[in-house]
Amino acid sequence: PRLEPFVDDLPLLSRLDSSSYRIDAVSTMHSFHRDLPPGPALAYGDNTYGGPTLVAHRGQETSIEYRNRIDAHPFAVDFDTSLHGLSERDRTDVPTSMHLHGGVTPPEFDGNPEQISRPGQGFTYRFPNRQDATTLWYHDHAMAVTRLNAYAGLAGMYLLRDDHDTGLPGNPLGLPSGEFELDLVLQEKIVDSNGSQSIRSTPIVPQGRWEGGAVGDVGVVNGRIWPEARVARGLYRLRLLNAASFSIWDLHFSNGMPFWVIGMEGGLLDAPVPTTRVRLSPGERVDLLVDFAQLDADATVELRNSEPAAPQAAQIGAVLMPLFMRFRAESARGFTGPVPDRLRGGPGLPPVVGPIPAPQNVRNVSLSQPSEVRIPPSIMSLNNLMYHSTDIEMPRQGTVEQWSIVNATPDPHPIHLHLVHFRVLGRQAINTLAMCARQPQPPIGLKWTPDPDPYVVEPMRGPEPWETGYKDTVICDPNSVTRIVAYFPTADELGFDPDATFSREVHTFDPHRAGHGGHGDHTGHAGTVGTAGAAGTVGTAGGDLQGYVWHCHILDHEDHDMMLKYRTVT
Ligand code: C2O
Ligand code: CU
Repeated sequence: PRLEPFVDDLPLLSRLDSSSYRIDAVSTMHSFHRDLPPGPALAYGDNTYGGPTLVAHRGQETSIEYRNRIDAHPFAVDFDTSLHGLSERDRTDVPTSMHLHGGVTPPEFDGNPEQISRPGQGFTYRFPNRQDATTLWYHDHAMAVTRLNAYAGLAGMYLLRDDHDTGLPGNPLGLPSGEFELDLVLQEKIVDSNGSQSIRSTPIVPQGRWEGGAVGDVGVVNGRIWPEARVARGLYRLRLLNAASFSIWDLHFSNGMPFWVIGMEGGLLDAPVPTTRVRLSPGERVDLLVDFAQLDADATVELRNSEPAAPQAAQIGAVLMPLFMRFRAESARGFTGPVPDRLRGGPGLPPVVGPIPAPQNVRNVSLSQPSEVRIPPSIMSLNNLMYHSTDIEMPRQGTVEQWSIVNATPDPHPIHLHLVHFRVLGRQAINTLAMCARQPQPPIGLKWTPDPDPYVVEPMRGPEPWETGYKDTVICDPNSVTRIVAYFPTADELGFDPDATFSREVHTFDPHRAGHGGHGDHTGHAGTVGTAGAAGTVGTAGGDLQGYVWHCHILDHEDHDMMLKYRTVT
């Protein structure tokens, strides 16, 4: 449909501030635009799409009683039952697993892709919130259906505050707060004229088969297509999240105005960094200060994307999706405080981000297309292995490691590590052909971690201005090595054992009794629960799990094996 931009107001995400929540994943109807009827979606809590912003406080545990109440999936026909043992039954008995992205979380509460809750089942998460104040997000992570669940709407923001970054007026950092702090969940989508969302961006793949990447042709912010936000003429703090399935965006304002980066996935920078653009891949967040006082009253400025579609992405129908939203300056003056000089490292401020620590161990890991299948949409793998491989990375707790991520594919991939935050050392283009000639890629299933160092063809380029702090997701350029440095903490430092074994424990509730989960609920092992009304029995029996995952955050890629487990060991 031809939709008019800027006719809808930017929805402000509701902010909930509590230490304990009950959050249900539900089937809903949602309208993405004034001129579109509501269509099927998924949501968390009371939303019709997406989730509420959850506010948490450093040092104070957040518990979330999560329940799966999905009774109809908008993309039931798009499930690919050839992936990871999915079956016909999964289309209606939809598996989910909620994950706090960027959370430093005990393994049993990490939203492991195999730790699923089906309709009528739930799980209580406990997030310690002992990490630095920052912008996190929660989204579905269930094996082989993450791309369908998250795109349908299972994604929301999670703001972690502390005594410096309080989110309250008069906060020690002098940052805009209240109405001057906006959470912006950015996505791109295909929406049909009947209001329904579609993941079908390419005609080359039959429906019901894995698509390779869902791109969109409209920009969606907080669940609305091309909305307009009225802003006071003053400083705003914008928390930007790329919650897209596939696309990387190079974001800027249409008038070219400069703004400041103050933080990213792992927390605040030492000082604001001026820029006119930020490049953001799926899963990445940036924390920005934007001064709308430079606009005249009633002037408008658009938030736009100029990232060209990746060459290979044309195969899955990728186009340049140039527009997200518009800001309109009102005559009112807003937050007039200055851009702070320092965010960390001054009196009364949190400790500095500091220099990148020296690694004690260097590990090569790889991103590649298996040599067997190169017809589109070709699958991608980590280390040339499939997800269930046991040939996994096991960094030692209490050590600093450099991961040299060798991307031997012609596309960029956003690589995300659970549990840790890392620093970006830099990127170097490599001669992939020469590297593969000397260190040939074996058949899929045999580990392949080529040494990129003899094949680099340029000096290392350091991190971009918006990548200079702690991160949990990083763009790995095609035919390049991206070097990151991470500290893998000990159990003592974490306050939990990151190497603990855990089982797939879920509780059950009667899905037909809306909103009443209290008495009558019970806890059992997912593998053996068989009495939960519509829930029935659950997947694989047994269920001892361990550790975390690292994966590409292109949701289609992580669903089809561009994901591996990893553990940290003593
Ligand atoms: Cu945003 Cu493993 O996830
Ligand atoms: Cu990927």
